Amino acid sequence: VFAAVQMAPRDPILGLNEQFNADPNPAKVNLGVGVYFDDNGKLPVLACVAAAEKQLLEASKPKGYLPIDGIAAYDKAVQGLVFGAGSEVLQAGRVATVQALGGTGGLKVGADLLKKLNPAARVLISDPSWENHRALFTNAGFEVSTYPYYDAATRGIRFDAMLAALKAAPAGTIVVLHACCHNPTGCDLTPAQWTEVVAACQAAGLVPFLDMAYQGFGEGIAEDGAVIGQFVASGLQFLVSTSFSKSFSLYGERVGALSVVCADRDETTRVLSQLKIVIRTNYSNPPTFGAQLVATVLTTPALRAQWEEELAGMRLRIRAMRAALVEKLAAAGVPGDLSYITRQKGMFSYSGLSAEQMQRLRSEFGVYGVDSGRICVAALNSKNIDAVAKAIAQVS
Ligand code: LMR
Repeated sequence: VFAAVQMAPRDPILGLNEQFNADPNPAKVNLGVGVYFDDNGKLPVLACVAAAEKQLLEASKPKGYLPIDGIAAYDKAVQGLVFGAGSEVLQAGRVATVQALGGTGGLKVGADLLKKLNPAARVLISDPSWENHRALFTNAGFEVSTYPYYDAATRGIRFDAMLAALKAAPAGTIVVLHACCHNPTGCDLTPAQWTEVVAACQAAGLVPFLDMAYQGFGEGIAEDGAVIGQFVASGLQFLVSTSFSKSFSLYGERVGALSVVCADRDETTRVLSQLKIVIRTNYSNPPTFGAQLVATVLTTPALRAQWEEELAGMRLRIRAMRAALVEKLAAAGVPGDLSYITRQKGMFSYSGLSAEQMQRLRSEFGVYGVDSGRICVAALNSKNIDAVAKAIAQVS
């Protein structure tokens, strides 16, 4: 049965970790996967998370199965964060939220639900997008195409072309949108552009699926979440996947969620019942610990305040690294206007380097970035940035 199995390619992002770990170069730097490291190159344990962890371990609860849709207090806390605590859609009982295995899990549960409800629908993702978007929706059985997004010439967004593509899409098309901190380009729509995107989705009868993996890494928690308010105000039905991997530094705990905004309370109950079938037939029910940590932090005012401060600290350090990178690249002799690096939002910088240049960075300098030219600015620090800037200058 396995004799004819072909070797699959490495994952374009996580596969780099395997290569990085096997590289004996002592000066190697991992700017591949989207992970935030502190200035000492260490994965941080947030103080709010450590406090919640202590609390939970002291209570040492039995470890029974969770409900299929996860911890109720967690789902409620996610809703408050994503939609705003007093949001009208929450009051009207129009949101079905389920705990998921990270943001990827939220996307997959949503994709499986949509496939069941509308098997003939097509999926549109941005050009370019997170590599796993295409793979995930393709593996859920959809035909995936792209809408124009990044403009290499201006290092901005091809907004008119994007809008035209959305307007021309057949009704029922699922359109995957990055709520903030676009991955990989770091180019985000302005609030005014979002207004036009929401109107286009509405006019064309599209099904927006917002991927919000980086809430708080752009401008702030509320600012990055504001786009959700625009979709709510439009009256559209839509989906949002949430990840706490980066914002709580809880990567391996796989803490995320999927929220589905429905037309009314009755529809929400029916959608939730279908989501539970998707989950039950995939992995039965979600794990406990990470979601308990996040729920504890989000619902304990002092810990929540601490989290917001720690998240702001990560956001500001990334910004400082962007500014430093511009300076160091210029000093290393990289010509041209580098201000795009400080304009880009979130963890990534889309460098414009070719796959060949990215491969040279790896093999000659031990600097690991994604072949698309994406580098993780959140993994730069005061010790590795000089070497990285010099390496980029050498291949530029
Ligand atoms: C990334 O884009 O690097 C992150 O979202 C991690 C992942 O799962 O790919």
